[in-house]
Amino acid sequence: CGIVGYVGPRQSQAILLAGLARLEYRGYDSAGIAVIDADGDLGMRKRAGKLGILRDDLTSAPLADGTTGIGHTRWATHGGPTDDNAHPHLADDDKLAVIHNGIIENFSELKEELLAEGYAFRSQTDTEVAAVLLGREYRATGGDLVVAFRNVVSRLEGAFTLLAMHEEQPGLVVGARRNSPLVIGLGEGENFLGSDVAAFVEHTRNALAIGQDQIVAITPEGVSVTDFAGNPVEVEPFEVTWDASAADKGGWSSFMAKEISEEPEAVANTLRGRIRDGEVVIPELDGLDDLFAGISRIIVIACGTAAYAGQVGKYAIEQWTRIPVDVELAHEFRYRDPVIGPDTLVVSISQSGETMDTLMAVKYAREHGARTLSICNTQGATIPRESDAIVYTHAGPEVAVASTKAFVAQVTALYLMALHVGRVRGTVSAADAAAHVAELEAIPAKISQILEREQPRIEQFAHWMADTRSVLFLGRHVGYPIALEGALKLKELAYIHAEGFAAGELKHGPIALIEPGQPVFVIVPSPSKSGEMHKKVVSSIEEIRARGARVIAVAEEGDAAVLPKADEVLRIPLAGPFFEPLLAVVPLHIFAMGLATAKGLDVDQPRNLAKSVTVE
Ligand code: G6P
Repeated sequence: CGIVGYVGPRQSQAILLAGLARLEYRGYDSAGIAVIDADGDLGMRKRAGKLGILRDDLTSAPLADGTTGIGHTRWATHGGPTDDNAHPHLADDDKLAVIHNGIIENFSELKEELLAEGYAFRSQTDTEVAAVLLGREYRATGGDLVVAFRNVVSRLEGAFTLLAMHEEQPGLVVGARRNSPLVIGLGEGENFLGSDVAAFVEHTRNALAIGQDQIVAITPEGVSVTDFAGNPVEVEPFEVTWDASAADKGGWSSFMAKEISEEPEAVANTLRGRIRDGEVVIPELDGLDDLFAGISRIIVIACGTAAYAGQVGKYAIEQWTRIPVDVELAHEFRYRDPVIGPDTLVVSISQSGETMDTLMAVKYAREHGARTLSICNTQGATIPRESDAIVYTHAGPEVAVASTKAFVAQVTALYLMALHVGRVRGTVSAADAAAHVAELEAIPAKISQILEREQPRIEQFAHWMADTRSVLFLGRHVGYPIALEGALKLKELAYIHAEGFAAGELKHGPIALIEPGQPVFVIVPSPSKSGEMHKKVVSSIEEIRARGARVIAVAEEGDAAVLPKADEVLRIPLAGPFFEPLLAVVPLHIFAMGLATAKGLDVDQPRNLAKSVTVE
């Protein structure tokens, strides 16, 4: 869910709605705002459906505006996406409004306690329980919102970001965070709260990161941060490095179109400042040589697209560091008593840095003695803060729900990390490292080439395939996770059944799926750089062709062996064996976007998904 809060001299509704629009990627089942108006009355409006529905509702039946307000965009957990279950939730005779992201695990106990005391509820949400509890506490403390809020959050279990305001105390918004994100935006005579900086970046780039289990109170004049017991704590200021326009569509038809066009920059920016004279230099990893020298295993944990980046990374990390690597879905990892210890480095990959499954796996790893490194795209996010080391990807803000540019940045960061560790451990020579670095540096221009030369053709082709109901993807070695990513993108964006397979596995089962006309994308490795593997993949193409498959090959320019065997060839420039995935994934991203667009679907906000899933 996305959260925004404002106090200051300006009317808050437009600020809240603009903030929510930038946070809509975090969930878009329903949205709502609450505002304390000039007469000191609290007004609230909330609607099921996307933010546009709330906006239209406010236009046709305006809500009195005011200078203190909170807003919420929801991804449903407890209770379906209805008007009643939308946030804010009110209590204390509708004088108090609360919004929430996360899950309050002990809400049923608390609800029973309140029901027994005669309190009534209007929704099925865990949030309303917190609101009603806060209303009771507010009265018990004689009307002190900060103290009441502190008493309430201390009783809550689970993960939450909670914001509250009371009409008797205009000019004050209180917030708390536990295992869920919240940042402060510092303005001139006004202050903001947000799930991430996108909520307020158009007003200020000065931000404060709030730590775990902390409470913040903002007024127009200032902010105060304490722990749950009320003791003041130090907070870290940081400056947002991108401006509001980076999180705008900037003339593109969708965020996804814009973000795919930014794939070259995402790689270039992730490399920037990290290469000197052919050597990888990662300042963030200074002083960690002992850690890297002392490990004997690496486990990569992530979810969704980030997990596929991890699978690509595995090949290069093992090759360059000779450390065995396992890649695991974060939500599977911690529920099976994994064998980890001080010799294990757990590398988490997360664009948002907030994915709850990944966060919990990182915490588990730490608690069980493993070392942790976070690859993350969002400064100040929770997962990097919980890790021993951080390598940020610099893909810039990614707004479309399905990940594209963050993926290529994640693979780039993993490669940089692998080369760094390989050099520390002496498993990569300076000359080899320099050759790999040169390959990486050439990637942005090669992706640009694909975008310029192939994008229109791929989009046209996707258009022709708009009625397709099932697509298969085959790949081998580093092409295998790319096949999985191609299939995931198609599921996410175009709601088509899509499946990725290791090409070698075809004959052990999946080939039974092939019937005349079945479209199959095949990621073909480089003929000159991959030796035997190229021949093997070409044989797979022959096998499926013989059974009537329609073959779409993603192949290197000049690969003459593939041309006569494929129905369609999507060309990528020549790259070394480990570097091809950074190119081969691009046509698949374009294809999925093109097909979803041809079907008239919303590529930025596919149904049922949220960009950052902040519940387990
Ligand atoms: C969600 C998104 C996916 C994303 C995954 C991991 O499921 O819909 O697109 O890959 O989360 O997100 P993260 O922020 O941890 O990379």
